[in-house]
Amino acid sequence: MRRISEVGAAVIGTGFIGTVHVEQLRRIGVRVRGVLGSSPERGQARADALGVERAYESLDALLDDPSVEVVHVTSPNHLHVPQARRILEAGRHVVCEKPLAMAASDSAGLVDLAARSGLVNAVNFNIRFYPIHQHVRELVAAGGLGDVRFVTGHYFQDWLLLQTDWNWRLEPDKGGTLRAVGDIGSHWLDLATFLTGQPVTSVMADLTTFIAQREEPRGPVETFSTERSSDTVERAMATEDTASILLRFANGARGSMAVSQISAGRKNSLQWEIDGSVGSAAWDSETPDHLWLGHRGQPNEILMRDPGLMGAAGRAAAALPAGHVEGFGDTFGALFRAIYADVLSGRPSDRPPYATFADGHDEVLVGDAIAESSRNGRWVDVERTPAGAATQPLETRA
Ligand SMILES: NC(=O)c1ccc[n+]([C@@H]2O[C@H](COP(=O)([O-])OP(=O)(O)OC[C@H]3O[C@@H](n4cnc5c(N)ncnc54)[C@H](O)[C@@H]3O)[C@@H](O)[C@H]2O)c1
Repeated sequence: MRRISEVGAAVIGTGFIGTVHVEQLRRIGVRVRGVLGSSPERGQARADALGVERAYESLDALLDDPSVEVVHVTSPNHLHVPQARRILEAGRHVVCEKPLAMAASDSAGLVDLAARSGLVNAVNFNIRFYPIHQHVRELVAAGGLGDVRFVTGHYFQDWLLLQTDWNWRLEPDKGGTLRAVGDIGSHWLDLATFLTGQPVTSVMADLTTFIAQREEPRGPVETFSTERSSDTVERAMATEDTASILLRFANGARGSMAVSQISAGRKNSLQWEIDGSVGSAAWDSETPDHLWLGHRGQPNEILMRDPGLMGAAGRAAAALPAGHVEGFGDTFGALFRAIYADVLSGRPSDRPPYATFADGHDEVLVGDAIAESSRNGRWVDVERTPAGAATQPLETRA
């Protein structure tokens, strides 16, 4: 068996989350061979700052580097599909940021391509990899909450509250026509299905744009930046600031999700609660090492993340002993350990614990149904067509 330090990776995108990818790849022992930025100059500046040996001039140059076996895509949303496609066609494993695509018509072909390639394909739904979430998935699957009946929660942020807040996510051609739902609601939806094992089958959505005009700075803006430019252009907004969504799941469970990027004071607040026929469970991203377990006939419990008190999956995702709080960055390490176990064996395992392109496509299908529901003011079923059905190997695979 090869060692993980023999595997080379490259990261496309050197912004907020590309930096986290570089750091967490190093943490698990993967060699980061180089990065690709939006321009050779910016890529070089970020490579220097991160201590990465090479800044590629182009995606062609990156794919010409034989030491790169895995490519991480952390560029803005509109680049995910074309870049992931070229990476698979060049015979490299791929880890793509969420959302996999801006519309399901784009991701369907990618699922098919990934299946035919036999290569590892992952979508970076890192929130699955809080150890508590790995534990809850096992707990629910083993019937620990009884039948899942009601799944509720929210994902709120405040960084787009002001009319002067700007980011590429506000431009539909870069971020997609579904904004708050695509950007952060996608995490909640993937997580709800991961924890319960139940796909979303129908949605009823109300999407609202409260800030109809925004000030776009003439210069570049970093994600989560607090600097404000006075040299701006006014832009009309069509994408949603908030979403209220009713959900129906495959087993008959019901639920609701609220999403907002304009909730003052909520920096990055994801909460969920699952109510089953025997008990309930709930989690809050601001106390990520705590799991609330609700009972009818006995006092409620708090499970503090503890490798000694969790199931096998929770133990595997935990990096630190109990009481030493693990957070957002640690989830990437746990997720990458699972993905690179498959990279070392050369192909995806039968039922990977991480989100595959098929899972990422499924979340985009739910997003498409949410957009249609809000447009038409009615319940919409999620239309699942067989994807990844083709079995022919990729002729272009290296
Ligand atoms: N999993 C998570 O928790 C999480 C968190 C944040 C962002 N994301 C996702 O990561 C992606 C990037 O988000 P971000 O917040 O890091 O944005 P960002 O603006 O901070 O970074 C984007 C980077 O992509 C680079 N880029 C732009 N065009 C490029 C091109 N043609 N080739 C190569 N690089 C290019 C930019 O220079 C920048 O470095 C988005 O798809 C977003 O949804 C995921």
